[in-house]
Amino acid sequence: MGKFIIEGGHRLSGRVKVQGAKNAALPVLAATVMSRGEMTLFNCPEIRDVHNMLSILRELGVESYYDGDALKISGRNARSSPMPQRLSKELRSSIFMLGPLLSRFGEAVCAYPGGCEIGHRPVDLHLKGLAALGADIREERGYIICDGHNMHGGEIHLDYPSVGATENIMMAAAAVPGDTVITNSAREPEIEELQNFLNSIGGDIRGAGTSTIYIKGGMEEVPAAAHRIMPDRIAAGTLMCAVAMAGGEAELTDVCPEHIGSLISKLREAGCHISCGRDTLEIRAKGRPKEIKLIETLPYPGFPTDMQAQIFALCTVADGTSVIVENLFENRFRHCAELIKMGANITQKDRTAIVRGVEKLSGAVVYAKDLRGGAALTIAGLGAEGMTAVENTEYIDRGYQRLDETLNSLGACIKREDGTQ
Ligand code: UD1
Repeated sequence: MGKFIIEGGHRLSGRVKVQGAKNAALPVLAATVMSRGEMTLFNCPEIRDVHNMLSILRELGVESYYDGDALKISGRNARSSPMPQRLSKELRSSIFMLGPLLSRFGEAVCAYPGGCEIGHRPVDLHLKGLAALGADIREERGYIICDGHNMHGGEIHLDYPSVGATENIMMAAAAVPGDTVITNSAREPEIEELQNFLNSIGGDIRGAGTSTIYIKGGMEEVPAAAHRIMPDRIAAGTLMCAVAMAGGEAELTDVCPEHIGSLISKLREAGCHISCGRDTLEIRAKGRPKEIKLIETLPYPGFPTDMQAQIFALCTVADGTSVIVENLFENRFRHCAELIKMGANITQKDRTAIVRGVEKLSGAVVYAKDLRGGAALTIAGLGAEGMTAVENTEYIDRGYQRLDETLNSLGACIKREDGTQ
């Protein structure tokens, strides 16, 4: 297992380009199995989740290689075979393969997906949606087995605006005969990104970004398509929290400020100065952050659950008491115990944490338990007195493209040991 050794107390300063979005790249990659054409993806992040997704695609006959910074993908020889259990367990997004495989081949078999352990993460909404489109689904010995030979369009109301379920249903519906309407769909920017990609490979979808999505089935394929993955709003937010914690100023390029409105507002409350351009953002932070009265995670455009841990780290040193409520996942406070080891004052019960800011954290040996929690501990290390070791950097590498190097380019002092990247 790898670790980051962080020397705290270095101000950050400089300019950095934000990586391509993990949560946009994964469904787009899953969708490549739907096309026989040649596809080129730009700005695809080099992260462990993407490598795992490419391995799953390879098992399904989808060929891919990097040509400079372009990822070339061909679905010409794709086939529907059961997805390997080892890879499915590693990557929750393997569930995204069901919709695309059903739409092209009329059958799909997937092991129950894994991913970060941030609580019980059911897939009932995915399966209910696919069943409403006529898929015949059964579960056998840890596998989900789907027969989609009689699939058709339909009207689907999601009980909850799940990001993954919305995406899976969009992909399945794009190719089956008939039209589909999804209501109460998720509105995350990554959904719009998937819509744009599906349309570029021959789909006819509109409405993504709102809570009603219209999908014309029977997609006609195109021979070639090119697509640039959008900037990662969570990676951008993580860098902003790092600057807020360490103090200093940074310019982020290739960022979409519109996608992080809720975070910008909370960081301003903490005393940061933030100015936004069309695709750039500048953040300045000086001195101890102010308390943030209430942070409550919600579906987009509310405060993202994927930023909860990083802003939590910042609140541990705020001048005052912050309250953090996690509404999406029931087990997403696993960074609390680690932050307490660093001297944080936290009272947590169920989905609510009360964080009484201390003047300084102290370096300690802490363990990443999931992706965003790992980023939070790294941020905590930047602001702590002395040395911090963040163990289990494999979690961090799932979603961040060399986070240590990015932060070091801004003046942080992080050494990676036994890393795999
Ligand atoms: C996606 C993101 C993840 C983010 C999450 C919420 C990707 C690859 N991952 O995950 O980083 O944290 O959105 O913004 O895009 N639920 C059900 N049944 C289902 C599906 C979901 O009950 O079938 C529940 C989940 O347990 C959770 C909530 O819905 O409580 C939100 O989950 P969802 O929006 O589906 O998240 P993911 O797509 O898994």
